[in-house]
Amino acid sequence: MIIRKSPAELEKMRRAGLLVHEILKHLQEMVSEGVTTLDLETAAEKMIRDAGAKPAFKGYFVPAAGGKYPFVLCTSVNHEVVHGMPSAKRVLKAGDIVSVDTGVSLEGYFGDSAVTIPVGEVSEQVRRLLRVTSESLDLAIDQMRAGNRLFDVCGVVERHVTSNGFSIVREYVGHGIGTSLHEEPQVPNYVDRRNENPRLKEGMVLAIEPMVNAGRPETKVMPDRWTAVTKDGSYAAHFEHCVAVTANGPWVLTRP
Ligand code: MF3
Ligand code: CO
Repeated sequence: MIIRKSPAELEKMRRAGLLVHEILKHLQEMVSEGVTTLDLETAAEKMIRDAGAKPAFKGYFVPAAGGKYPFVLCTSVNHEVVHGMPSAKRVLKAGDIVSVDTGVSLEGYFGDSAVTIPVGEVSEQVRRLLRVTSESLDLAIDQMRAGNRLFDVCGVVERHVTSNGFSIVREYVGHGIGTSLHEEPQVPNYVDRRNENPRLKEGMVLAIEPMVNAGRPETKVMPDRWTAVTKDGSYAAHFEHCVAVTANGPWVLTRP
């Protein structure tokens, strides 16, 4: 069942979404050569606590990993796709890209967003990977209109990414969001006709999160049981926003 939110609930989700935005904005300003991914974690956790919010990821149980995630951020560098763990040993250097993903709950409502940030100068091909992935998210956001269907959202991401020569990760998907981090429906970045294709209605909120590889689509999980990487070692990009369907069109809750 897809839970629809009232305008008052959307206002609460907006507050959570704007906090996530402020955190990611701060981390984007912090990212540069010599900064560690644990530095980002420390700054993010402080902002979450200072705002009176709770981290959505820290302590979140993931059956496939066999445990609770230990950090407020996922920091996935270069060929890491998602769920990279912050570490004092991971020193960012020019030419890297780092996906920073975080979620919070505020007054019982969740926000979740991610951005992939280049460190110093990155190659032309990597710049194109980031641009195409972020464009695919914007195209998906524009499909978040009452009367459209879920496959309209999934399909524009898939078409934009594949027509630009990159590949869509299939093992990880976006999700509904509200009073839980993960609600129905799943939001793949591709159309699979075996899935249901519900009509979008006012009050639905989806966390749309294209995960795109420069090379082959396959991923594997590292022995730490969390970090997903591209099998072929190619770079991966990840962008995410929470988007509500409203009478006035799409409302991106995690963007000012
Ligand atoms: N943005 C991701 C998601 O929505 C991050 C979850 S990390 C986890 O699934 F550890 F909390 F699972
Ligand atoms: Co998410």
